[in-house]
Amino acid sequence: MQIKKITCIGAGYVGGPTMSVIAQKNPNVQVTVVDLNEARIAAWNDADLSKLPVYEPGLDGVVGEARGRNLFFSTDVDKAIHEADMIFISVNTPTKTYGKGKGQAADLKFIELCARQIAAVAKSDKIVVEKSTLPVRTAEALKSILDNTGNGVNFHILSNPEFLAEGTAVTDLHNPDRVLIGGEDADAIEALVQVYEAWVPRDRILTTNLWSSELSKLVANAFLAQRVSSINSISELCEVTGANVDEVSRAIGYDSRIGAKFLKASVGFGGSCFQKDILNLVYIARSYNLKAVADYWEQVIILNDHQKVRFAENIIKTLYNTVNGKNIAFLGWAFKKDTNDTRESAAIYVADHLLDEEANVIVYDPKVPAEQIYRDLDYLGTRSPEENRRLVKVVNDPYEALAGVHAVAILTEWEEFKSYDWEKIKETMKKPSFVFDGRKLLNRSKIEGLGYVYYAIGE
Ligand code: NAI
Repeated sequence: MQIKKITCIGAGYVGGPTMSVIAQKNPNVQVTVVDLNEARIAAWNDADLSKLPVYEPGLDGVVGEARGRNLFFSTDVDKAIHEADMIFISVNTPTKTYGKGKGQAADLKFIELCARQIAAVAKSDKIVVEKSTLPVRTAEALKSILDNTGNGVNFHILSNPEFLAEGTAVTDLHNPDRVLIGGEDADAIEALVQVYEAWVPRDRILTTNLWSSELSKLVANAFLAQRVSSINSISELCEVTGANVDEVSRAIGYDSRIGAKFLKASVGFGGSCFQKDILNLVYIARSYNLKAVADYWEQVIILNDHQKVRFAENIIKTLYNTVNGKNIAFLGWAFKKDTNDTRESAAIYVADHLLDEEANVIVYDPKVPAEQIYRDLDYLGTRSPEENRRLVKVVNDPYEALAGVHAVAILTEWEEFKSYDWEKIKETMKKPSFVFDGRKLLNRSKIEGLGYVYYAIGE
């Protein structure tokens, strides 16, 4: 079966870039990305490509090439479902904030709403592809809804989890380590294989059963996050023993069984996926009474939370045990460089901790707007929105953020921070001038040479 029309429900960080690349590489397939969020769709359609709702290096070029040719963004979900042969579901699957499984289980209400809408609208057979990250065996629920509420048409369900990393989404999509497709129907699998074969070598397209595919995505994120927490746990040990975590990472990373990637100590991982997916894995293990398995993976989160608290507390302790009324500049708010995504960013939690101590925080991030920063803090509900606006100032110029502050905290590894005129900054800062480098971005000897007191994780 040759796919001619694809619809993707959800125009977020995954749906937008993934479908843009599918459209770019399959000029004969019409790809429509739909979303309920009108502002988001308007931004995807903005003639000015710098206004796309997702910032990713290279994405403007891909969208510019395909949009209007065979790539469309729309809010007309029904029409797009009706027309498509293949429908990707790429809506958000956040951690539940209510009821059973609150704080751990994935909230599948958006997925279910999509399934019901597809079932209600579809008048011809469809292949439905789970692109969102889902708990293992979700396809079963999807199938049941589609088959029992539909118009008697056939639905085939595939699982096709996305492994792109934000900040490198376009290169990851152009050159994936692997594409994973889980399913039961050979023809449906082959139809999706053909879409990817337009640019991905066949031997990098793996096919499995549905449940292995669903579970593999959770496991991949759990393993990646576990490496971060593992090296972060060692960073604390390094600080008390005189070892240097970068040297330890290098020494163990040379072992080909361990490998060098993802061994960088930091203030902790963030992003919308790692924590949510591990919590989900923990919840699933608990629901099958696998207590040892659940406890094992939960430690990855516990350690990550510890690392953020530790970073904030070190700032307070170093600033003579009080930050009340002191000005602390935050360089970076995004959860990693080269993205405007702030979900679960370590910066949010470090700021929250310092604000509890009545610090004044001045934030500069090259891609995150002020409204988003306030929204992130307000969402925590720790203090009133007015309080957050009283204590936190967001500026558009890094030198303005840094002028006259007691300390600088680096929360995101944006490259541009390295090239600032740190000599000039030092002149304006309070003395002693402290730098807390949560990303180990700056060069210690250079910064200390300028007279700063420099703290980097794991040293
Ligand atoms: P997102 O929140 O950026 O985008 C989801 C979009 O779906 C939103 O714009 C929302 O308005 C829309 N939506 C929700 N319900 C809808 C409905 N019924 N009809 C139409 N639109 C609807 O989320 P993101 O980051 O794109 O994640 C999507 C899924 O992909 C999640 O399951 C996530 O775990 C997974 N994922 C995310 C990765 C990432 O780096 N962000 C990487 C790999 C997987």
